[in-house]
Amino acid sequence: MPVDFDTIVNLAKKRGFVFQSSEIYGGLRSAYDYGPLGTELLRNVKDQWWRSMVRMRDDVVGLDSAILQAPEVWEASGHLTSFSDPLVECRECNARHRLDKLKDTNKCPTCGNSDTFTEPKEFNLMFKTHMGPVESEDNVVYLRPETAQGIFINFENVRRTARMKLPFGIAQIGKSFRNEITPGQFVFRTREFEQMEMEYFVHPDHAAEAFDQWVETRHKWYIDLGMSPENIRLREHDTDELAHYADGTYDVEYLFPWGWDELEGIANRTDFDLKAHIERSGEDLTYFDQEADERFVPYVIEPAAGATRTTFAFLIDAYTEEEVKGETRSVLKLEPRLAPIKVAILPLSKKPDLVDVTRKVADMLRDRWQIEVDVTQSIGRRYRRQDEIGTPYCVTVDFDTLEDDQVTVRDRDTMAQDRIPIESLTAYLQERLPA
Ligand code: GAP
Repeated sequence: MPVDFDTIVNLAKKRGFVFQSSEIYGGLRSAYDYGPLGTELLRNVKDQWWRSMVRMRDDVVGLDSAILQAPEVWEASGHLTSFSDPLVECRECNARHRLDKLKDTNKCPTCGNSDTFTEPKEFNLMFKTHMGPVESEDNVVYLRPETAQGIFINFENVRRTARMKLPFGIAQIGKSFRNEITPGQFVFRTREFEQMEMEYFVHPDHAAEAFDQWVETRHKWYIDLGMSPENIRLREHDTDELAHYADGTYDVEYLFPWGWDELEGIANRTDFDLKAHIERSGEDLTYFDQEADERFVPYVIEPAAGATRTTFAFLIDAYTEEEVKGETRSVLKLEPRLAPIKVAILPLSKKPDLVDVTRKVADMLRDRWQIEVDVTQSIGRRYRRQDEIGTPYCVTVDFDTLEDDQVTVRDRDTMAQDRIPIESLTAYLQERLPA
């Protein structure tokens, strides 16, 4: 059973994972800032994605394209005409809703009145701005609503310079912007968010097979990183749900506190995008297979995940409450690779000789792992804080350490404690903290 929504939002705020943006000015709705722990967690999620999608593979390379792109990109991709949601407004209370997300399409969830909606209007989700000092229709540019188009327009640049042969992929992590009608559920749906997308280019005859493989690979990624298999599922899109570019799509869904919702879409985008850019730009984005002596427009399989949304799901999934000696212990059982802090080093007291050893141990470990030194409060309270932020190991420096050069290592999940010589500590932790 997933954790209650308010509990996890409160934890995220209290421990400094996520803050409301512009809080000192009353907050900017639907925009969030990631605090010290949230930044580490988000970075770890992105690093793990990059590791599995790029570093561990020969057939995928990375890209970091600009957020601002020529308006023609969005004309060609269909975003200017088709990237919209149906918007209705309640005549009674003036609340605006996304029609396709309403449980009852006749009843306003804000005021409860029925039959008060205006006719649905297609509302384009692209954020508009102007490039240069003059605000005119001639210099309109858009903030990208997906990272994917930056990949398509660089297909030939990357293929040529990285000397890639089909099948191959181009991966990108970065910010995207959508003027969502109804942002909400904390960082789940925001107007500024981060995506992790990969476009895998294949021969059209191999697209179906590659699609199946990527659906399986991506589903497995979440489970390998500790997400509970019963809280994650694959759902195939019905034909009427498919995006304007997609031939088939599976969503990876997570059981959020409000029900099943999307983490990632894996789509067969066919040759839609490359063909559209060939047509609009006049450039040759076809692929020539020398061995087969064949020229064609590759098909694209796209696993597109939300980095911020996925981070939120990992946070929810890791949250556990346990009864220990009549007290409730809150623990974030994050997979160690995702944990913001890997090792906390805690001197039993603030006495200078203990703090000195603590600093030495910290300096020994900080080159490899994100660590934290905490000298405040009782050791019990410090353990509770580290449990609540998901630190897999706490290393305690006590008075015996001064005599025997050993420290106590406490495991977050079992609470078992091992006494380890300082000289063996790195090896001990290395065995337990995978890359
Ligand atoms: N290039 C395809 C594409 O962008 P999408 O399903 O619209 O597909 C991919 O987006 C992922 O990006 C989603 O599965 C979700 O995790 C994330 N995402 C989309 N809109 C979001 C929003 N408003 N806030 C947070 N994450 C969002």
